[in-house]
Amino acid sequence: MAKVVSFSIYKGGTGKTTSAVNTAAALAERGKKVLLVDLDQQAQTTKYLGFDPDTIPMNLAHVFMQNIPIALTVQKTAFSFDLVPASDLLAAVEAMLESGKDEGLLREKLDAVEAEYDFILLDTPPGKDKLTFNALVSARQIIVPVSTERMAVDGLADLIKHLHTVLWPKYDLDQDIRILFTKYDATTSLSPGIVKSAQKIYRENVLPMLVHSAVAFPRSYEARQPIIQFAPSHQGTQAYRELAAWLAQ
Ligand SMILES: Nc1ncnc2c1ncn2[C@@H]1O[C@H](COP(=O)(O)OP(=O)(O)OP(=O)(O)O)[C@@H](O)[C@H]1O
Ligand SMILES: [Mg+2]
Repeated sequence: MAKVVSFSIYKGGTGKTTSAVNTAAALAERGKKVLLVDLDQQAQTTKYLGFDPDTIPMNLAHVFMQNIPIALTVQKTAFSFDLVPASDLLAAVEAMLESGKDEGLLREKLDAVEAEYDFILLDTPPGKDKLTFNALVSARQIIVPVSTERMAVDGLADLIKHLHTVLWPKYDLDQDIRILFTKYDATTSLSPGIVKSAQKIYRENVLPMLVHSAVAFPRSYEARQPIIQFAPSHQGTQAYRELAAWLAQ
């Protein structure tokens, strides 16, 4: 059965999509069978992997709106893993889902493909979207990509509080939460200080690998290639390889 891993934090722009795509590529490099699910109406994971969301006939929105089996929406990427694409139709799904009621739908829909993969990775949108709650309820492992800045660390506390006080009691979840620092800037004392203070609070839940800030990431997005293919020996590539190794252990 696949291990379901959600890349989530309510704050925007912290590296959720970058981490989900590059961890998928790094797990695939290790020979793992990986399905990456794009839950964001911005469809940036879909675009990162070279697809045009408007020309793919079926995506995750159809799974929710027309009850299409998720397997029928799976696309093979050029990077040895599979993708369930998104499109802006997910905005209609968001409007359709009932708050506080439909949070378990994705979990049911993933059941049908769980036997085919080692890992199912979920890239969630920013904000408290009902689709994000669906991903959080589906996951066994939650990776929280936090850009190394105070505001993002505050966002981390918001997510953890919501999990502890709302989703865990309601769904009786037993989940592991790990923090992945991204956009780490070693040239000032700011980033090291932020990581240290987070380690004091969250201890072993802070992952040891740090994803440094690097222009190679936006460039790899522009090139429509995970960083493993775009810059195989880059520090950022190494960090996501380490995350994949940690997940696969
Ligand atoms: N380690 C990094 N160093 C430099 N830039 C990065 C890094 N990681 C991501 N970025 C860039 O930061 C921007 C936001 O990253 P990304 O889209 O992965 O964040 P996100 O959390 O998915 O955003 P959203 O909340 O909008 O979905 C992108 O331009 C991306 O290329
Ligand atoms: Mg994103």
